[in-house]
Amino acid sequence: MSNDTHTLTGHDYLSDEVWLLERQRIFRSGWLLAGAGQRLQRGNRTVVDLAGESVLLTRDLDGALHAFANVCRHRGARLCEAHDASSQGSLMCPYHAWTYALDGALIATPHLDDTEVDRSTLPLWQYHLREWHGLVFVSLNPDPPQFDAWLQEHAAEMLRFERFGLEQLVVVASTRCDIAANWKIVIENYQECLHCTRVHPELVDIVPLYRTGWVTDRERPDGGVAVTRSKESSPYRAEAPSLPGATELDHTSYYGATVFPNGFVDVTDPSVVISTLYPDGPNRTVMTMDFLFHADTLAAPGFDPQPIIDFNVLVGNQDNTVCEMVHRGVASLAFDHGVLTPKDEYVIWFTEHYRRTMGAT
Ligand code: FES
Ligand SMILES: [Fe+2]
Repeated sequence: MSNDTHTLTGHDYLSDEVWLLERQRIFRSGWLLAGAGQRLQRGNRTVVDLAGESVLLTRDLDGALHAFANVCRHRGARLCEAHDASSQGSLMCPYHAWTYALDGALIATPHLDDTEVDRSTLPLWQYHLREWHGLVFVSLNPDPPQFDAWLQEHAAEMLRFERFGLEQLVVVASTRCDIAANWKIVIENYQECLHCTRVHPELVDIVPLYRTGWVTDRERPDGGVAVTRSKESSPYRAEAPSLPGATELDHTSYYGATVFPNGFVDVTDPSVVISTLYPDGPNRTVMTMDFLFHADTLAAPGFDPQPIIDFNVLVGNQDNTVCEMVHRGVASLAFDHGVLTPKDEYVIWFTEHYRRTMGAT
């Protein structure tokens, strides 16, 4: 057995030059996950940083989602700094108070009447947005790739989750963490389970297959992995109504999917966790996790989503710690590349996909 399947190099992880190229070829060309759409109620807005571009997401009063450049059309001030749940259904620039409706239309320009400024020609600059069963996707490319074909190529495993009725779920909690690691290290860590026994004792306790180092069950073409619900320590122990469309097998399974380049979706009945990565340069990645449940599950007597949320945050923090350790390690002068083994099959997929995308002109 030779060791000739290589990871990316230290330069690939750490260099500013590679990061600038990634912005062009990956983050400004295709589609990017921007979390769960259910986070935004009508009349609300949020701000996301998509690889250095501040994007304003709004849900207008008719319920439609929009993505705008977070910049005022007047003299270029940043419009919003953070999520504002108390929105009054419009956006006012903090500089000269030009005001925009949540669909982007410029509706007020104090001290300037119709003869002085033509408001109809100055809506917020808009980015392409698509919603897939409640998941928000934004493209910074003025001419983005066709969405369905793109999804098929970049998030094929997630397409299987259509059956769970994700759009019917509600966001119960959202968390945010700051990881001192390159975004590719965070993705690669998600793609393998050779670290699970050592790093995630609580996880391997309820997903016994992970003790073997495999990520998926070779016997199951559906991508599922058995979850032990009965153990005292299992956060999935409580019985409550399942996800819409979940079968008996789904009820005792975990399914994971990567959304290239910046997300993961985890389904463990009755919960769905949407993790979104917001890279901020080569050395830092912000990750948000949205926890979704069906209203019937939440309404079940005695059901508490908190142990499931806590469990996922615990596993996520364990992962973040090792990702930061790798980020420090690959800075070594000696690290030209690492090696990938057959059990790293999904890391190999990611690495190849990444190299192909970066190589494209
Ligand atoms: S820059 Fe926004 S109102 Fe002037
Ligand atoms: Fe992990």
